[in-house]
Amino acid sequence: MKTLWQHCHVATMAQGAYSIIEDAAIVTSGAHIEWVGPRSELPSGDFAAVNDLNGAWVTPGLIDCHTHTVFGGNRSDEFEKRLQGVSYAEIAASGGGIASTVRATRAASEEQLFASAARRLKSLMRDGVTSVEIKSGYGLDLANEGKMLRVARRLGAELPISVRTTCLAAHALPPEYKDRADDYIDHICAEMLPALAAEGLVDAVDAFCEYLAFSPEQVERVFVTAHKLGLPVKLHAEQLSSLHGSSLAARYQALSADHLEFMDEDDAIAMAKSGTVAVLLPGAFYFLRETQLPPMEALRKHGVKIAIASDLNPGTSPALSVRLMLNMACTCFRMTPEEALAGATIHAATALGMADTHGSIEAGKVADFVAWQIDRPADLSYWLGGDLEKRVVRHGVETSL
Ligand code: NIG
Ligand code: FE
Repeated sequence: MKTLWQHCHVATMAQGAYSIIEDAAIVTSGAHIEWVGPRSELPSGDFAAVNDLNGAWVTPGLIDCHTHTVFGGNRSDEFEKRLQGVSYAEIAASGGGIASTVRATRAASEEQLFASAARRLKSLMRDGVTSVEIKSGYGLDLANEGKMLRVARRLGAELPISVRTTCLAAHALPPEYKDRADDYIDHICAEMLPALAAEGLVDAVDAFCEYLAFSPEQVERVFVTAHKLGLPVKLHAEQLSSLHGSSLAARYQALSADHLEFMDEDDAIAMAKSGTVAVLLPGAFYFLRETQLPPMEALRKHGVKIAIASDLNPGTSPALSVRLMLNMACTCFRMTPEEALAGATIHAATALGMADTHGSIEAGKVADFVAWQIDRPADLSYWLGGDLEKRVVRHGVETSL
């Protein structure tokens, strides 16, 4: 069953640029794009439906490639403390931070986690997101990491959004392993990852490489186990200090290294070589009032693909709009609106290992796209939040939320 979508312009985002087709038409067949091009070249055919997009700009559905959408409670109390001068690291050292979300997440039922995460996810979706990555990392034991990942899978099954799950068991040290970080890493490698992978709950494996989390040596053991299980890796690296986690990630052909404010040019060279995507998280940069900027020039010079994500989490980035992140990427990191949009479409797809099927509007790819009533693509990075008029198509079907 073929459907025609016309009276639109398309920013296909193929090859990481706008790659604009003016006065375009898109033909979808079931869940896939069968043809896209100038309307004047539209092949003749029988269409079961013809959609007039009213002059909209069509982009790929936005892809949020780094989120911690599933968690219990929230940390607006810590936000108030930080505004009084207490730092993120100090709050973490005094039992707050990630540890407080771990307590709330462990105490929450699967049902409660699903309900609160669905609310957050719907907010992202109303803003044009059609694919999302969701990490565990607030359970920190087998039962609770499994609970988080099952909730993530269920979100993808019950809402019109594609969900990729990432196991972030190596996010922080759980209280029962206090002062025994190596033992916890052993437990992750010997018990947690094999069991969670066997249950089909893990699409990728992540870790937090930082002086207040895990060392590069500990992270490497997690990566070795992930590879043995046939799972790709990602890494939270160089957010608060430089441990060269991003180079380590590159050595393990990581899909992405994320945050990266403190990375250097050698890290960029290593990432370029391995095709590891740099996922920048301007929401966390902004919310923590960081001042160290990621090395944009080194990333561009060495041709590292740059993705932008919300990092939606209760501690450092309670961000409910990817478009707002695009604006912050431009204002804070001096990215162009074109780079920013590529960062939330095609490069985000690469960061999730799904670029063969998602992230651009090209024949053969999945028909996930958004028809925005805007004047030009830069409008997507220009408006600060709000609700832009749009139609969202996922798997060839218009969604309503
Ligand atoms: O991506 N960097 C580590 N993890 C999260 C923060 C998690 C939290 O504070 O709850 C991040 O910023
Ligand atoms: Fe994160």
